[in-house]
Amino acid sequence: MPLTLQVHADASNFAANVTKEEAYQQVLDQAEGLLYDQRNWVCNLSNVSALLWHAYKSLPSPSNQVNWAGFYTLDPSTPNQLILGPFQGKVACQTIAFSRGVCGAAATTKQTQLVPDVDDFTGHIACDGASRSEIVTPIVVRDRVVAIIDVDCAVPGGFDDVDRAWLEKLAELVGKSCDWP
Ligand code: SME
Repeated sequence: MPLTLQVHADASNFAANVTKEEAYQQVLDQAEGLLYDQRNWVCNLSNVSALLWHAYKSLPSPSNQVNWAGFYTLDPSTPNQLILGPFQGKVACQTIAFSRGVCGAAATTKQTQLVPDVDDFTGHIACDGASRSEIVTPIVVRDRVVAIIDVDCAVPGGFDDVDRAWLEKLAELVGKSCDWP
């Protein structure tokens, strides 16, 4: 009989007083386990959104001020467009052209966009006016952007190079662990 691994909600319990590095390490470790024998992108991006959300909420400010964490994927219906994927937070913009916003910039350049103050980023799309800083990391598979990780924070300066480094590791893991549309 095939072994069925039981996924448990405890995977998203983060201890109080861990460092940001330790929280991200747990996100990576748990994601690696969850994605090990599951390649469906909806399933995987949903669980990774939950891990990120609970990790941020376990940390001190500014990380616990994160107000949106999730994914946009390549929109199969329209070239050079992203479409909303699994996320945690409030309702968000449904589609984003590659030519628009922080997400579009990440998709076009294939580089992480770290935006300490969204007011300083020309073309920032304010799905939620409460968002004050943002980081977007592209997920690139065989030189093609298949999705982006987007995290918003309700205070300026919510993200730094630690977030960048870990989100890039996460993007690599997620990229190779899913079958993309
Ligand atoms: N602010 C993003 C849009 C997506 S939401 O933040 C969820 C952007 O400028 O691309």
